[in-house]
Amino acid sequence: TNIILLGPPGAGKGTQARYLVESRGMVQLSTGDMLREAQTSGTEMGKKVAAIMAEGKLVTDQIVIGLIREKLQGGAEGGFIFDGFPRTLAQADALAKLLDEMDLKLDAVIEMQVDDEALVARITGRSTCGGCGEVYHDQTKPWPADGKCANCGSTDVQRRADDNEDSLKTRLMEYYKKTSPLIGYYYAKGNLQRVDGLASIEEVRKSMAWIMGE
Ligand code: AP5
Ligand code: ZN
Repeated sequence: TNIILLGPPGAGKGTQARYLVESRGMVQLSTGDMLREAQTSGTEMGKKVAAIMAEGKLVTDQIVIGLIREKLQGGAEGGFIFDGFPRTLAQADALAKLLDEMDLKLDAVIEMQVDDEALVARITGRSTCGGCGEVYHDQTKPWPADGKCANCGSTDVQRRADDNEDSLKTRLMEYYKKTSPLIGYYYAKGNLQRVDGLASIEEVRKSMAWIMGE
Protein backbone atom coordinates (compact mmCIF):
# COMPACT_ATOMS: atom_id res chain seq x y z
CA THR A 1 0.00 0.00 0.00
CA ASN A 2 1.27 3.45 -0.92
CA ILE A 3 -0.38 6.47 0.67
CA ILE A 4 -0.06 10.24 0.92
CA LEU A 5 -0.76 12.03 4.21
CA LEU A 6 -2.09 15.47 3.37
CA GLY A 7 -2.78 18.17 5.91
CA PRO A 8 -1.62 21.48 7.36
CA PRO A 9 1.36 21.80 9.74
CA GLY A 10 0.52 20.08 13.02
CA ALA A 11 -2.32 17.97 11.59
CA GLY A 12 -0.65 14.83 12.93
CA LYS A 13 0.95 13.43 9.77
CA GLY A 14 4.25 12.53 11.41
CA THR A 15 2.57 11.03 14.48
CA GLN A 16 0.41 8.69 12.40
CA ALA A 17 3.20 7.85 9.96
CA ARG A 18 5.28 6.49 12.85
CA TYR A 19 2.46 4.13 13.82
CA LEU A 20 2.14 2.87 10.26
CA VAL A 21 5.88 2.21 10.11
CA GLU A 22 5.69 0.15 13.32
CA SER A 23 2.47 -1.72 12.61
CA ARG A 24 2.78 -2.34 8.88
CA GLY A 25 6.44 -2.08 8.08
CA MET A 26 5.81 0.82 5.74
CA VAL A 27 8.57 3.24 4.80
CA GLN A 28 8.00 6.86 5.82
CA LEU A 29 9.20 9.44 3.33
CA SER A 30 9.04 12.79 5.12
CA THR A 31 10.61 15.55 3.06
CA GLY A 32 10.63 17.74 6.20
CA ASP A 33 12.72 15.14 8.07
CA MET A 34 15.05 14.71 5.10
CA LEU A 35 15.60 18.47 4.89
CA ARG A 36 16.24 18.74 8.65
CA GLU A 37 18.74 15.86 8.41
CA ALA A 38 20.53 17.69 5.60
CA GLN A 39 20.82 20.67 7.96
CA THR A 40 22.27 18.73 10.90
CA SER A 41 24.75 16.93 8.69
CA GLY A 42 25.82 20.31 7.29
CA THR A 43 25.46 19.50 3.58
CA GLU A 44 25.41 22.35 1.03
CA MET A 45 21.72 21.74 0.45
CA GLY A 46 21.07 21.82 4.18
CA LYS A 47 22.73 25.21 4.51
CA LYS A 48 20.81 26.52 1.53
CA VAL A 49 17.38 25.61 2.91
CA ALA A 50 17.87 26.37 6.64
CA ALA A 51 16.71 30.01 6.50
CA ILE A 52 13.77 29.23 4.21
CA MET A 53 12.54 26.51 6.54
CA ALA A 54 12.97 28.53 9.72
CA GLU A 55 10.82 31.24 8.15
CA GLY A 56 8.14 28.72 7.18
CA LYS A 57 8.36 29.02 3.39
CA LEU A 58 8.45 26.08 1.01
CA VAL A 59 11.79 25.06 -0.49
CA THR A 60 11.97 24.58 -4.26
CA ASP A 61 10.14 21.75 -6.00
CA GLN A 62 13.40 20.68 -7.62
CA ILE A 63 15.08 19.97 -4.27
CA VAL A 64 12.29 17.90 -2.76
CA ILE A 65 11.53 15.98 -5.94
CA GLY A 66 15.20 15.05 -6.09
CA LEU A 67 15.09 13.77 -2.50
CA ILE A 68 11.99 11.67 -3.15
CA ARG A 69 13.35 10.23 -6.37
CA GLU A 70 16.45 9.05 -4.55
CA LYS A 71 14.48 7.39 -1.72
CA LEU A 72 12.02 5.64 -4.02
CA GLN A 73 14.90 3.69 -5.58
CA GLY A 74 15.31 1.86 -2.28
CA GLY A 75 11.86 0.26 -2.61
CA ALA A 76 9.53 -0.65 0.28
CA GLU A 77 8.02 -4.03 1.12
CA GLY A 78 5.16 -2.57 3.17
CA GLY A 79 4.69 0.39 0.86
CA PHE A 80 5.50 4.08 1.09
CA ILE A 81 3.97 6.79 3.26
CA PHE A 82 4.45 10.19 1.67
CA ASP A 83 4.46 12.60 4.62
CA GLY A 84 4.60 16.30 3.74
CA PHE A 85 5.07 15.56 0.05
CA PRO A 86 3.68 16.50 -2.43
CA ARG A 87 2.98 20.09 -1.39
CA THR A 88 2.48 21.77 -4.78
CA LEU A 89 0.73 20.73 -7.97
CA ALA A 90 4.12 20.47 -9.70
CA GLN A 91 5.27 18.03 -6.98
CA ALA A 92 2.07 16.02 -7.38
CA ASP A 93 2.62 15.69 -11.12
CA ALA A 94 6.25 14.73 -10.57
CA LEU A 95 5.21 12.06 -8.07
CA ALA A 96 2.64 10.60 -10.46
CA LYS A 97 5.38 10.32 -13.07
CA LEU A 98 7.89 8.74 -10.69
CA LEU A 99 5.38 6.16 -9.45
CA ASP A 100 4.43 5.36 -13.00
CA GLU A 101 8.06 4.82 -14.00
CA MET A 102 8.51 2.43 -11.09
CA ASP A 103 5.25 0.60 -11.68
CA LEU A 104 3.92 1.66 -8.29
CA LYS A 105 0.34 2.57 -7.55
CA LEU A 106 -1.06 5.24 -5.23
CA ASP A 107 -3.72 3.59 -3.05
CA ALA A 108 -5.03 6.48 -1.01
CA VAL A 109 -4.56 10.14 -0.22
CA ILE A 110 -5.62 10.75 3.35
CA GLU A 111 -6.54 14.32 4.18
CA MET A 112 -6.24 15.05 7.90
CA GLN A 113 -8.72 17.79 8.72
CA VAL A 114 -8.09 20.16 11.63
CA ASP A 115 -8.92 23.79 12.30
CA ASP A 116 -6.35 26.57 12.57
CA GLU A 117 -6.85 27.19 16.28
CA ALA A 118 -6.01 23.62 17.15
CA LEU A 119 -2.88 23.84 15.01
CA VAL A 120 -1.40 26.71 17.02
CA ALA A 121 -1.78 24.70 20.24
CA ARG A 122 -0.35 21.57 18.62
CA ILE A 123 2.68 23.27 17.12
CA THR A 124 3.60 25.41 20.10
CA GLY A 125 3.34 22.40 22.45
CA ARG A 126 5.35 20.00 20.33
CA SER A 127 8.72 18.46 21.15
CA THR A 128 10.61 15.63 19.51
CA CYS A 129 12.99 13.03 20.92
CA GLY A 130 16.51 13.59 19.60
CA GLY A 131 17.26 9.91 20.11
CA CYS A 132 14.46 8.25 18.14
CA GLY A 133 12.22 10.94 16.66
CA GLU A 134 9.20 10.15 18.85
CA VAL A 135 6.80 13.11 18.82
CA TYR A 136 5.50 14.52 22.12
CA HIS A 137 3.11 17.26 23.14
CA ASP A 138 3.19 19.31 26.36
CA GLN A 139 -0.54 18.72 26.94
CA THR A 140 -1.73 15.71 24.94
CA LYS A 141 1.36 13.49 25.05
CA PRO A 142 3.78 14.80 27.68
CA TRP A 143 7.30 13.46 28.24
CA PRO A 144 7.43 10.83 30.99
CA ALA A 145 7.94 12.35 34.45
CA ASP A 146 11.46 10.90 34.75
CA GLY A 147 12.47 12.96 31.68
CA LYS A 148 13.36 9.86 29.65
CA CYS A 149 11.78 9.10 26.25
CA ALA A 150 9.26 6.24 26.64
CA ASN A 151 10.53 4.73 23.43
CA CYS A 152 14.33 4.91 23.66
CA GLY A 153 15.26 6.37 27.06
CA SER A 154 16.98 9.44 25.64
CA THR A 155 16.75 12.73 27.56
CA ASP A 156 17.35 14.86 24.45
CA VAL A 157 14.19 17.01 24.12
CA GLN A 158 14.19 18.98 20.87
CA ARG A 159 12.01 21.83 19.65
CA ARG A 160 11.92 22.83 15.99
CA ALA A 161 13.20 26.24 14.84
CA ASP A 162 9.97 26.79 12.86
CA ASP A 163 7.61 25.92 15.73
CA ASN A 164 6.78 29.47 16.79
CA GLU A 165 3.67 31.53 16.08
CA ASP A 166 5.30 33.73 13.41
CA SER A 167 6.69 30.89 11.32
CA LEU A 168 3.47 28.95 11.79
CA LYS A 169 1.51 31.83 10.21
CA THR A 170 3.75 31.63 7.14
CA ARG A 171 3.52 27.82 7.05
CA LEU A 172 -0.28 28.01 7.15
CA MET A 173 -0.35 30.63 4.40
CA GLU A 174 1.91 28.45 2.25
CA TYR A 175 -0.40 25.51 2.93
CA TYR A 176 -3.56 27.34 1.87
CA LYS A 177 -1.96 28.95 -1.19
CA LYS A 178 0.09 26.09 -2.56
CA THR A 179 -0.86 22.77 -0.95
CA SER A 180 -4.62 22.86 -0.38
CA PRO A 181 -5.31 22.78 -4.18
CA LEU A 182 -4.07 19.19 -4.00
CA ILE A 183 -7.29 18.24 -2.20
CA GLY A 184 -9.29 18.98 -5.35
CA TYR A 185 -6.61 17.42 -7.52
CA TYR A 186 -6.75 14.07 -5.72
CA TYR A 187 -10.51 14.22 -5.32
CA ALA A 188 -10.76 14.45 -9.10
CA LYS A 189 -8.36 11.52 -9.45
CA GLY A 190 -10.68 9.51 -7.21
CA ASN A 191 -8.34 8.60 -4.35
CA LEU A 192 -9.11 11.19 -1.68
CA GLN A 193 -10.14 10.00 1.80
CA ARG A 194 -10.74 12.19 4.84
CA VAL A 195 -10.16 11.72 8.54
CA ASP A 196 -11.08 13.98 11.44
CA GLY A 197 -7.66 15.04 12.66
CA LEU A 198 -9.15 16.70 15.75
CA ALA A 199 -9.99 13.33 17.24
CA SER A 200 -7.56 11.72 19.68
CA ILE A 201 -4.34 10.15 18.37
CA GLU A 202 -5.86 6.70 18.96
CA GLU A 203 -9.14 7.55 17.18
CA VAL A 204 -7.27 8.90 14.17
CA ARG A 205 -5.19 5.74 14.13
CA LYS A 206 -8.34 3.62 13.97
CA SER A 207 -9.87 5.69 11.16
CA MET A 208 -6.69 5.31 9.15
CA ALA A 209 -6.56 1.57 9.72
CA TRP A 210 -10.15 1.32 8.55
CA ILE A 211 -9.39 3.26 5.36
CA MET A 212 -6.38 1.08 4.69
CA GLY A 213 -8.35 -2.11 5.21
CA GLU A 214 -7.48 -3.80 8.48
P1 AP5 B 1 7.37 19.38 7.67
O1 AP5 B 1 8.41 18.78 8.49
O2 AP5 B 1 6.67 18.54 6.67
O3 AP5 B 1 6.35 20.09 8.64
P2 AP5 B 1 4.77 20.34 8.54
O4 AP5 B 1 4.07 19.98 7.31
O5 AP5 B 1 4.66 21.76 8.95
O6 AP5 B 1 4.20 19.33 9.48
P3 AP5 B 1 4.57 19.07 10.93
O7 AP5 B 1 5.71 18.13 11.02
O8 AP5 B 1 4.73 20.40 11.63
O9 AP5 B 1 3.23 18.48 11.49
P4 AP5 B 1 2.62 17.00 11.48
O10 AP5 B 1 1.37 17.04 10.67
O11 AP5 B 1 3.63 15.98 11.13
O12 AP5 B 1 2.20 16.92 13.00
P5 AP5 B 1 2.78 16.03 14.20
O13 AP5 B 1 2.43 14.60 13.98
O14 AP5 B 1 4.19 16.37 14.51
O15 AP5 B 1 7.96 20.62 6.87
C1 AP5 B 1 8.78 21.59 7.47
C2 AP5 B 1 9.34 22.54 6.42
O16 AP5 B 1 10.15 21.83 5.48
C3 AP5 B 1 8.31 23.27 5.55
O17 AP5 B 1 7.81 24.42 6.18
C4 AP5 B 1 9.15 23.57 4.30
O18 AP5 B 1 10.00 24.67 4.50
C5 AP5 B 1 9.99 22.32 4.15
N1 AP5 B 1 9.35 21.27 3.32
C6 AP5 B 1 9.03 20.01 3.73
N2 AP5 B 1 8.47 19.30 2.73
C7 AP5 B 1 8.44 20.14 1.65
C8 AP5 B 1 7.97 19.99 0.32
N3 AP5 B 1 7.40 18.85 -0.11
N4 AP5 B 1 8.08 21.05 -0.51
C9 AP5 B 1 8.65 22.21 -0.11
N5 AP5 B 1 9.12 22.41 1.14
C10 AP5 B 1 9.01 21.39 2.02
O19 AP5 B 1 1.82 16.58 15.39
C11 AP5 B 1 1.95 17.91 15.87
C12 AP5 B 1 1.76 17.93 17.41
O20 AP5 B 1 0.41 17.56 17.74
C13 AP5 B 1 2.66 16.94 18.16
O21 AP5 B 1 3.06 17.54 19.36
C14 AP5 B 1 1.74 15.72 18.42
O22 AP5 B 1 2.10 15.04 19.60
C15 AP5 B 1 0.38 16.37 18.55
N6 AP5 B 1 -0.71 15.53 18.01
C16 AP5 B 1 -0.69 14.79 16.85
N7 AP5 B 1 -1.88 14.19 16.64
C17 AP5 B 1 -2.69 14.56 17.68
C18 AP5 B 1 -4.05 14.25 18.03
N8 AP5 B 1 -4.83 13.47 17.26
N9 AP5 B 1 -4.56 14.81 19.18
C19 AP5 B 1 -3.79 15.62 19.95
N10 AP5 B 1 -2.49 15.93 19.69
C20 AP5 B 1 -1.94 15.41 18.56
ZN1 ZN C 1 13.20 8.47 21.97
